[in-house]
Order: sequence, then C-alpha cells, then structure tokens
Amino acid sequence: VYFSQTGQLARIVDSIKGPLENTAEIEVIVEQLVPEPSFPFPWTADEFFQAMPESVLGIPCDLRPLTCDTGLQYDLIVIAWQPWYLSPSIPTHAFFRSEAAKKLIKGRPVISVIGCRNMWVMAYAQVKEYILKLEGVPAGNIVLFDRAPNLLSIVSVIRWMMKGKQDRYLGIFPPSGVSNEDISQASSFGEIMHSALLQNEISSLRSRLIHADAIEIKPGLVMIEKRGIILFGIWARFIRRKGIYGSKERLGRIRLFKYYLIAVIYLVSPFATALYWFVRPFRMKSIKKQKAFYQQS
Ligand SMILES: Cc1cc2nc3c(=O)[nH]c(=O)nc-3n(C[C@H](O)[C@H](O)[C@H](O)COP(=O)(O)O)c2cc1C
Repeated sequence: VYFSQTGQLARIVDSIKGPLENTAEIEVIVEQLVPEPSFPFPWTADEFFQAMPESVLGIPCDLRPLTCDTGLQYDLIVIAWQPWYLSPSIPTHAFFRSEAAKKLIKGRPVISVIGCRNMWVMAYAQVKEYILKLEGVPAGNIVLFDRAPNLLSIVSVIRWMMKGKQDRYLGIFPPSGVSNEDISQASSFGEIMHSALLQNEISSLRSRLIHADAIEIKPGLVMIEKRGIILFGIWARFIRRKGIYGSKERLGRIRLFKYYLIAVIYLVSPFATALYWFVRPFRMKSIKKQKAFYQQS
C-alpha cells in the first residue's frame, strides 16, 4: 500500500517488489492510495504550508476506496509512506484511519517503507502507534532518504516541491530526493522479504533488515525533530482555530508559520547542529543508546 505524489515512492516500491514478483510462490498485490481531491504537485507556497496542520494533527483526507480484497489474510503487509511536517502525510493518516486498514492490518505483520528527505523518526512513532492500535504486528522498517547535507537538501526539496525541478541547482545544491543508486539497491530489501516469506520466518525480518542497514539514525536530526514536533503541534492548533484545510480565513496564520519555519531553519537549526557536535563527545554513550533505540523501534 503506498501513496506517491512525485513518483519517488512509487519507484522505491517498484524496486523493493522486484524480487518478490520474480517468483511463482508469492503473489504481490499493489494498492495505490488516491486522495480525493488530489494534492497539488508542484505546490504553490500557500498550498504547501496549508498541509501542515492536518499532517501534524492527523486529520485525514478522503481516499478513493481500495481495490484489493480487504477480507483476505495477507502474509505480509507493506506500507510505503512519506513524512509531511515530521508527521505521517495526510493520505497516510487517511489510510490508517480507514475501515480498510482496520481489516487489512489486524493480526498481520506490517513492514513500513519510508521515502523522505531526512526527518522521519517522529512520524514513524505515529505510524507504529497506528499499527499497534489496529492490532497489527510491526515487523520492520526501511528508510530511504536524501543523503545531501540538511541545509542544502532543504533548499533543493522546496525547489522540487514548488517548481517540480529535481536536478542540481546553481552548482551548489545537489539533486533533490533519494538517489537513483539507493532506489535501485532497495531491491535487496525485497530479497530479504522474499527469503523470510519462503522460509516462513517473518519474525526475523526486523533484525535482518537492521543488519542490512535498512535504517540509519542521525541523532543530530532526531534532536531537531523532537523539538520541532512540539512547536508544530502548537502552530497546528493555532492555525486550525481559524479554519479547515484550504480555507482562506487561516491563510494569514499559514503565512506567519511559513516565515517562522524559514527563520527557524536558517537561524536556529545551524546553532542547534553546532551545539549537538559540541556536546557529542561528552554524550557518546547516550547517543549510542538513542541510536539503538530508534533503530530497534
Ligand atoms: C508538505 C510536505 C512536507 C514534507 N515534510 C517532510 C518532513 O517533515 N521530513 C522529510 O524527511 N521529508 C518531508 N517531505 C518530503 C516527502 O517526505 C517526500 O520525500 C517527497 O514528498 C517526495 O516523495 P513522494 O512524491 O513519493 O511523496 C515533505 C514533503 C511535502 C510535500
């Protein structure tokens, strides 16, 4: 089950499912989530920031009904999703809150596949909570992200989202998104799922994926995320008081949030990152512990 606007997550899903489809023993059923109405791409600035409160507060959009048989007991459910504003994207919330998800996930092992810029940890905690609430069994996580430095990939992702251009920019900003190499190598995760399914060893999937470097934790970014998600929550409620998704009444507050976010990213986060690198040598033990915690979770 996946949603993708730009096609990036669709390519990741294709790569992962390759090895699963090349075998007679396994049948792969792919379900694409289709929001109604669809989200714009490329986005205007106002539209892009309008999506913040609903992403953060978990307010779903409408989805076209799924086409698969939700009454079947699938051996493995794979949910490929993306974070929006440190939270699951609005279509991801919509899926997890649907009746279809309730039926599909109950009692089933669920793998999460994330395609993102680089901040997914807080959003994953929510996805895991959804899976547990629906009585599914979280069976592992795979994260593909943009490997460019944080402050460069912020510029290139915004250009990608608002102009639809993903290529190198001004000779400084690397191409935006998950690299082609990482996308094609994601097929190795499909191979791991393939052998776990055939050996009937789904319970070992999580550790096999971790062993194959399916998750890389960057504690400096986790630190920014932890603070960011609290502040986004405050802003989200402040904006929602003025109106629902897309309403003109809340545009003033949406724009205020936009300026706030730009200021935080460029004025505060370089200091936060510098502080992290300064205290890092004294906190190696707790950083290691934190890394292990988020990798295992
Ligand atoms: C509104 C919006 C907010 C986003 N917020 C985040 C974020 O908080 N963390 C992150 O790593 N990526 C973020 N991204 C990037 C997406 O996770 C994703 O990588 C991108 O939208 C392209 O993938 P897709 O077309 O397959 O969805 C955001 C994208 C959008 C459109």
